[in-house]
Amino acid sequence: MEVLRANDDVRRRATQARQAGETIGLVPTMGFLHAGHRALIERARAENGRVAVSVFVNPTQFGPTEDFARYPRDEDRDLALCQEAGVDWVYAPSVEELYPHGQPGTLVTPPEGLTTSLCGEFRPGHFTGVATVVAKLFALWGPDRAYFGLKDFQQTAVLRRMAADLCFPVALVLAPTIRETDGLALSSRNIYLDPAERQAALAIPRALQAGWEQARVAGSRPSAVLEAAARHLTGMQVQYLSLVDRDSLEPATDLGRPAVLAIAAYSGKTRLIDNVALDGPAPLALAASAQEGVA
Ligand code: PAF
Repeated sequence: MEVLRANDDVRRRATQARQAGETIGLVPTMGFLHAGHRALIERARAENGRVAVSVFVNPTQFGPTEDFARYPRDEDRDLALCQEAGVDWVYAPSVEELYPHGQPGTLVTPPEGLTTSLCGEFRPGHFTGVATVVAKLFALWGPDRAYFGLKDFQQTAVLRRMAADLCFPVALVLAPTIRETDGLALSSRNIYLDPAERQAALAIPRALQAGWEQARVAGSRPSAVLEAAARHLTGMQVQYLSLVDRDSLEPATDLGRPAVLAIAAYSGKTRLIDNVALDGPAPLALAASAQEGVA
């Protein structure tokens, strides 16, 4: 495994791989890797000749009052996980390497419809930062496939649109959320939770489970799904609890179309997000099975 810091080295390796007829799978991350990232890496390993993982805490996707400075970082641990998972290249550039003219530079702004609801409403500029940095990674690596977790559901919608609008010839592979056995979705930010906050955070997957079950009751309407979920969140500071159309991200008006129930809530000072597709598997059923085969 090679650790690359310079964009020129990335271009060289990517060109060599293409000349050798190998496909490139890219797993963009902000590091502090967990089993969710590992599942993405393993899938990329199985589906591509070469696997690149980027580790970069991207300043342009954090707001001025957010946790950029204290976002957890542990490069040695990340490199060990990547090595063990069979990664070919870890790309871990400095901020100056990716933003040589300073920030923000040229920006990729996703369409408003995809960024005004859910996290976009509370994190202005966040998805512009995400779309910009991922576009830069696509431009550098020219990956055949790029891997993202569905826990960041709105991010996946934004990135699908960005790749299509900017004509990147890359397939986005979207993988299910990995959960602890008690249902908590894996996130690098879970490290911020003390034991009591972690326990309180379990209300989120329980709320998703209740909404998912309510959607299966004959004649159920979106309002009933939201009410069923809300009952589990009474003690929490909820930023949003929304039921949106899977593709447009507009509020779901009936349950006849694929819809996603999404939550952002604080446990202590930590903001957590999670979601479930109402036409997919139950979140708590996934919790038990998702750990299989994942370190
Ligand atoms: O999901 C993340 O970790 C980040 O938003 C991403 C896609 C790596 C861009 O910085």
